Amino acid sequence: MSALPPLAIGPLTVPGGLFLAPMAGYTDRAFRSLCVEQGADLTYTELVSALALVRGGARDGLLRPADNEERYGIQLFGADPPALSQAVALAGAYKPGVIDLNAGCPVPKVVKSGAGAALMKNPGLLGRAVEAMVKASQERAGGAPVTVKMRSGWDGESVNYRECAGAAQEAGAALVCLHPRSRAQGYGGKSAWPHIQDLASRLRIPVAGSGDVFTPEDALRMVQETGCAAVMFARGALGNPFIFSQARSLFLTGRYTAPPIEARLGAGLRHLRLLAADIGEKHACLEMRKHFCAYTRGIAGGAALRSKLVRAETIEAYEALLTLPPCGGAEG
Ligand SMILES: Cc1cc2nc3c(=O)[nH]c(=O)nc-3n(C[C@H](O)[C@H](O)[C@H](O)COP(=O)(O)O)c2cc1C
Repeated sequence: MSALPPLAIGPLTVPGGLFLAPMAGYTDRAFRSLCVEQGADLTYTELVSALALVRGGARDGLLRPADNEERYGIQLFGADPPALSQAVALAGAYKPGVIDLNAGCPVPKVVKSGAGAALMKNPGLLGRAVEAMVKASQERAGGAPVTVKMRSGWDGESVNYRECAGAAQEAGAALVCLHPRSRAQGYGGKSAWPHIQDLASRLRIPVAGSGDVFTPEDALRMVQETGCAAVMFARGALGNPFIFSQARSLFLTGRYTAPPIEARLGAGLRHLRLLAADIGEKHACLEMRKHFCAYTRGIAGGAALRSKLVRAETIEAYEALLTLPPCGGAEG
C-alpha cells in the first residue's frame, strides 16, 4: 500500500511518491538504508562530480546502493555534456533506478564551474546536458531514466524554472524536481510552492516538489496544494527516518504516532554501525556527530548529551551515552 499512487518515471515505476532528497554529507548508504526501511519510495545519493567520476576520483561508497535499496537515484553534477555522458555510462554500472542531473546546487565551488544552479543561467546548455545523458543512458547505462533537480532560477530577477524544466522535458528528462528557491536564497526564505503547482500543471512528465517539508503534515499539504506527483523530504528527514512511515500513515489514515525517544536514538546507533561498516569506526564516529545533533533534537537534556557525543570516538562510547535510563522523556 502506498501513500501516493505508483509513479512512472520513464520506464521505471516506483511504488509511491515519498522520496528522500539528495543531501551532500547526509544521504550516505547507511542513512538511505534506514529511510528505505521506513518506506521511502525512492532515495538519492548526494551529488557526485561527473568529472571526478570520469577521472576515476569518485568514491565507490558514494555511488553504491545500500543492501536494501531496490531502486535509487545517483545524482551527478557537471556542465560539460560529453563528461556527463561518460559519467552516466560509468554510473550505469551500479544499476541505479534513475540518474539525476543537479541543476540547483548553490555552492560557489560548483557554480563557478558552470554546474549546479549555474546551469539554470543557460537553459540551452541544460537541455543539451540532459539530451547527452539520456542518450548515454539508453546506449550505455541500461536505459535508466534521467531526472533533473532544479531551483526557481538564479536569483529573484531571473526566475526561469518554466523554461529550464521545459528544456529538460524536451531533451528527454523523465521527471523534474523543483525546489522553488532561487540560488541567491540558498536555504533561507520560504520555498515558493505555487511554482511547484504551476510546473505540475504545465509539464507532461511528473513533477516532484522540494522545500520546507519538515513534517508529515507539510508533505500532505504540499501534495494537496500543488498536485505534485512526489514529495522530497530533505532537512525534515535528518535524524528522523521515521518521517516516511509517519507520512505514509498520515496519508492513508489521517494520523500517525511519533516514535519514542529510544527508537530515535536506536536508529541513530544503527546508522552509526552501518556507516562504520562502510567507512570504518573512527571516521564514522566523527561523521555521526552532525547526524546526532539531529537525532537528539528536542530530547530532554539534549544539549548536555550533544556536548558529550561530540567527544565520542568509538561505537562503545556512543552506546554508553545513548542508552537511556528508563525515565528518559521528550522536551515540551
Ligand atoms: C545539507 C544539505 C545538503 C544538500 N545537498 C544536496 C545535493 O547534494 N543535491 C541536491 O540536489 N540538493 C541538495 N540539497 C537540497 C535538498 O535536496 C532540498 O532540495 C532542500 O534542502 C530543500 O528542502 P527542505 O527545505 O525540505 O530541506 C541539500 C540540502 C541540505 C540541507
